[in-house]
Amino acid sequence: SDYETILVERRDAVTLVTLNRPQALNALNAQILSELLDAMRAFDADSTQGCAVITGSAKAFAAGADIKEMQEMDFAAMYGGDHFSGWDAFTRTRKPIIAAVAGFALGGGCELAMMCDFILAADTAKFGQPEIKLGVTPGMGGSQRLTRAVGKAKAMEMCLTGRMIGAEEAERCGLVARIVPADDLVEEAVKTAQTIAAMAPLAVKANKEMVNAAFDTTLAQGVQFERRLFHGLFGTADQKEGMTAFVEKRPGNWTGR
Ligand code: HXC
Repeated sequence: SDYETILVERRDAVTLVTLNRPQALNALNAQILSELLDAMRAFDADSTQGCAVITGSAKAFAAGADIKEMQEMDFAAMYGGDHFSGWDAFTRTRKPIIAAVAGFALGGGCELAMMCDFILAADTAKFGQPEIKLGVTPGMGGSQRLTRAVGKAKAMEMCLTGRMIGAEEAERCGLVARIVPADDLVEEAVKTAQTIAAMAPLAVKANKEMVNAAFDTTLAQGVQFERRLFHGLFGTADQKEGMTAFVEKRPGNWTGR
């Protein structure tokens, strides 16, 4: 690939994206955003790819939005340019994305991890929203996604004090799906992604869409949405194949139709 701030590798049906601005602890600047969006668009459009993993380095997943890039910006530049709205496109990716987090996931780094579908954390992971210490607030969705993930008490404490939480605390409060030893993080994330990529592709998209709907709907609307999508899958060949394969005691052979 021609990217400068990320590395993209294909591991069979899994796209592995490594954030690669080590000199700035993977701080998220305009270039890394544009390269990441481009890579995720290509991933979503590529029918050979079923799941993505985003990771950083052993020291930092990402230490935030790029403070040096924002330092001199004024209200007109921020509001006029709708700064950070570019990240909305990332959340419109329809195939699953796993965040594999080791080291610091701070500010925008924590927010990027939370924009992914779930987080696998190395035992070295540290999450925080330290923007308060810079005289501002989260700006990439952190106040909303963190609150939904961990509840008001912990989100409020983290946003108001900038306190970082480690992997254990993050798992306990529901921010991360699972903790893995740092040395195994990327391999374990890729393996998990390969498990997902081996499922029926339409069912994968439907499951992602459905779980995300829980954050935007009432319970009754969400249950209705689930049921309609569930019904819809009975129009697919892969539903027939999946249930036939179960009855015949063999693995499903998916066509994505
Ligand atoms: C730009 C950053 C950066 C960032 C680190 N660097 N974080 N550059 N933006 N967010 C740069 C440092 O300036 C330094 O460059 C190099 O990366 C190494 O960092 P050090 O600070 O020397 O490393 P260390 O002492 O190990 O400390 C690690 C750290 C610290 C605790 C993670 O870097 C840190 O506190 N970073 C900022 C975390 C933060 O506040 N994030 C939130 C950003 S705001 P040089 O050139 O000096 O060697 C945000 C939300 C946006 O994300 C919402 C609006 C603000």
